[in-house]
Amino acid sequence: MSLSYPRNGVVGGLLLSKCLFLLFLTVCCTPEEPIQCKSENTDCTITNSYGTFPDRSVCRAHNVVYPTTEEELISAVASATKKGSKIKVATRYSHSIPKLVCPSGQDGLLISTKYLNRVLKIDKEAKTITVEAGVTMKELINEAANAGLALPYTPYWLGLTIGGLLSTGSHGSTLWVKGSAVHDNVSELKIVSPGSPEDGYVKVRVLKDGDEDLDAAKVSLGVLGVLSQVTLRLEPLFKRSITYKTESDSDLADEIVSFGRKHEFADIIWYPSQQKAVYRVDDRVPTSTSGDALYDFIPFRPTSSQLLEIIRSAEEALESSHNAEWKCIFGKLVTSYLNISAYGLTDDGKRGYPMVGYQNRLQASGSCLAEKAEGEVELEVEEEDGDAEKGYCPWDPRVKGEFFFQTTLSIGLSSVKNFIQDVQELVKLQPKALCGLELYNGILMRYVTASSAYLGKEEDAVDFDITYYRSHDAMTPRLYEDIIEEIEQMALIKYGALPHWGKNRNIAFDGVIKKYKNADKFLAVKKLYDPIGLFSSEWTDQVLGLQGGITTFKEGCALEGLCICQEDIHCAPSKGYFCTSGKVFKDAKVCSRQNQVGDVLVDIK
Ligand SMILES: Cc1cc2nc3c(=O)[nH]c(=O)nc-3n(C[C@H](O)[C@H](O)[C@H](O)COP(=O)(O)OP(=O)(O)OC[C@H]3O[C@@H](n4cnc5c(N)ncnc54)[C@H](O)[C@@H]3O)c2cc1C
Ligand SMILES: *[C@@H]1O[C@H](CO)[C@@H](O)[C@H](O)[C@H]1NC(C)=O
Ligand SMILES: *[C@@H]1O[C@H](CO)[C@@H](O)[C@H](O)[C@H]1NC(C)=O
Repeated sequence: MSLSYPRNGVVGGLLLSKCLFLLFLTVCCTPEEPIQCKSENTDCTITNSYGTFPDRSVCRAHNVVYPTTEEELISAVASATKKGSKIKVATRYSHSIPKLVCPSGQDGLLISTKYLNRVLKIDKEAKTITVEAGVTMKELINEAANAGLALPYTPYWLGLTIGGLLSTGSHGSTLWVKGSAVHDNVSELKIVSPGSPEDGYVKVRVLKDGDEDLDAAKVSLGVLGVLSQVTLRLEPLFKRSITYKTESDSDLADEIVSFGRKHEFADIIWYPSQQKAVYRVDDRVPTSTSGDALYDFIPFRPTSSQLLEIIRSAEEALESSHNAEWKCIFGKLVTSYLNISAYGLTDDGKRGYPMVGYQNRLQASGSCLAEKAEGEVELEVEEEDGDAEKGYCPWDPRVKGEFFFQTTLSIGLSSVKNFIQDVQELVKLQPKALCGLELYNGILMRYVTASSAYLGKEEDAVDFDITYYRSHDAMTPRLYEDIIEEIEQMALIKYGALPHWGKNRNIAFDGVIKKYKNADKFLAVKKLYDPIGLFSSEWTDQVLGLQGGITTFKEGCALEGLCICQEDIHCAPSKGYFCTSGKVFKDAKVCSRQNQVGDVLVDIK
């Protein structure tokens, strides 16, 4: 369905009623396989769950193997090592945005952990769980809960595998105890690496608490070998109480650190253009507290392809007509919808906060992965369409739905206040510039802590998740391109932010390794575990500072985050976008749109 951009409230109203009808569906689609092969398991391509890497290239591999046991995994590594083949581990869904999963060159081997998905042991006494590395968060959390145990802090999305999320340092949100990264509660890892001929070309190491190499292996970008088994420390299952509170963002900069210290599972959704912050007041409560709430985050629910297409078409139309006004209106619709739906929290029809429930039902969600979602809105779907339609994860590349960039950076607690104030300064200059973020649920701010992992966080920090429109055409600029580029560069350069290894555009990784004080220790372990770099690729070598090429200078490169513009040609001069300095962070070089007569919106100076 195509849609010209909304000109009046009628279209907005129509959109809203459509949304309400189509938002939830009962049946949903398992995401597509990230690996596709021409003939049986050979001549393969691999992509991520969004279907597109930051540079839009397609990655190739000679073949893929799907070990079902540790023995098969070990023999796959041995035979590839013997041949000198490049190797990469792939997972069930492959959720990372950068090209982490691509083996070097075109003839490498992919080892998929799709069938290494068993829970091996739960030790109730020691409160630990041992799993194969392909186990998803969903399986892990469910199994732990069945034994009365819980993982206290995890990412919010159930589709990740334990091997993948550890490799990229993934996290939830807390400043308490040891912080929100899953890798900080690994007590044991088994890792399968290349070996010498005397070793039979493969070496299996077991790393336990206290082993120095564990600090390399628990966040490894996959370059040390294959994680085969992981043991995590758990806690007795507990309950939480969640209340979302909306406030003006005028004291956000002052409150952010103390809010994080006050509430164990705190996070904040920031709507900078609306000048609002939604505080998640989230703490443990005694298990005797009544409530059985479920968190089923709305943007992770199965969504109809029709609705996704309507939203995307509207977004594209507003982009191409430079209609910031309507982006703001549309953004507010999305914001209010999330708000009235309690961000996806439900408890048997209960209205209002607090929502109380068990950890395993609240920490993470992802019903768009499941066979069946909550039945709640079945009726409405039937009214609309006659029969139940399939629902998708909103970014599923088979649907013309969400297509976005993600800039995910953590900024140390000592400078987060200044960063927020700088962003607010930009909003003052361009009040509508960040409305587009609201379509992607605002800026999610989460707390992370310094880690002993060599590639973990260097200091306690706030992680900013900024998701925004990406055009399907690499040469087409975005509305207010310059403002988000300025925020990105401000974070990275002025405030020394660290990128999430599994998200971001290329420029976030330019020179990144210099920000890690233990990078040398990491590289020493890499040399020991994989001396000839079979598990390394162009991308990991670039990220680890072993080879140049993270940024490339070519026409339009800044539009895709492949470079910071130096000349106009790196932007889109033919479309009126030129390389200029930042407005608040003057050292930034951004693609900004120069005055053009006859547009809906006239920007700049
Ligand atoms: C919808 C969504 C929500 C998300 N939410 C969060 C969040 O709340 N918090 C957060 O921190 N991140 C989040 N992420 C990012 C995500 O955590 C990372 O991208 C994560 O690495 C993806 O895990 P995966 O299992 O898909 O691994 P992949 O992306 O497939 O793999 C990541 C890397 O790990 C390597 N690898 C995988 N398994 C192994 C193994 N067994 N041994 C060795 N190397 C291995 C791969 O080769 C690759 O280099 C989210 C992503 C999505 C799509
Ligand atoms: C790790 O587990 C312990 C309990 O064994 C718990 O107290 C702590 O909060 C956990 N830390 C993280 C980072 O999950
Ligand atoms: C959510 O709704 C409440 C109650 O109507 C309102 O006070 C608050 O401002 C809303 N928050 C957002 C982010 O719209």
